[in-house]
Amino acid sequence: MTPPQSPVHAILSTERLLPVVVLDDAEAALPLGAAIRSGGLSTVEITLRTPQALAAIRALAREGDLVVGAGTALTAAQAEEAVRAGASFIVSPGVSAKVVMWCRDAGIPVFPGVATPTDIQAALDLGIDVVKFFPADVNGGVPAIKALAAPFAGVKFVPTGGVTAANLASYLEHPAVLAVGGSWMVARRAVATQDWDGIAGLVAAAVTIAARATASRTARDGDHG
Ligand code: 3PG
Repeated sequence: MTPPQSPVHAILSTERLLPVVVLDDAEAALPLGAAIRSGGLSTVEITLRTPQALAAIRALAREGDLVVGAGTALTAAQAEEAVRAGASFIVSPGVSAKVVMWCRDAGIPVFPGVATPTDIQAALDLGIDVVKFFPADVNGGVPAIKALAAPFAGVKFVPTGGVTAANLASYLEHPAVLAVGGSWMVARRAVATQDWDGIAGLVAAAVTIAARATASRTARDGDHG
């Protein structure tokens, strides 16, 4: 059932943060990548929501400093285009059997989005047990993950949508949460104004919070033997 652990799964399980970017200008890709790297993270999701997304993925993949994924992949054709551009993982807002099967056949890790038990069963049927929980905040946040984790014990979640510096620790302390994703560290406006130091600072702050949350979860798990 569990697919072999890919490099992105390994990164997410240690760093526990996935910056999600909506990029209006591919020229910003490299300085943005450098800011994310200097803040302490090794991966980024570029959403396929702008005409510049593929060029940005191409530039970042060629640079090679970050593991680059493509988000908002709604069709298998989009996933294929993104992988051709250099994406090494795919994220979808929902569960598309076509997207998941294309990725599986191509050997590309894929994180489909789920919000309900039915979605999770659909993902499991496709052999996926690490899912994006989306949009996390409006779908009930941590209490919803607690409730969903009970029947789906082997499933790991990447809550995304409404995650902020203020609530990320509460997500990361839950044992079913692999990592959180979000745009708060790499806000569209900060990218537009080329505030690379500000972005690196927000990434570094999130890295500190995530490390603390992971340590407190590990200590708690240890207490429970
Ligand atoms: C996504 O595509 O995963 C979301 O747009 C990210 O959500 P956020 O902007 O609320 O972090």
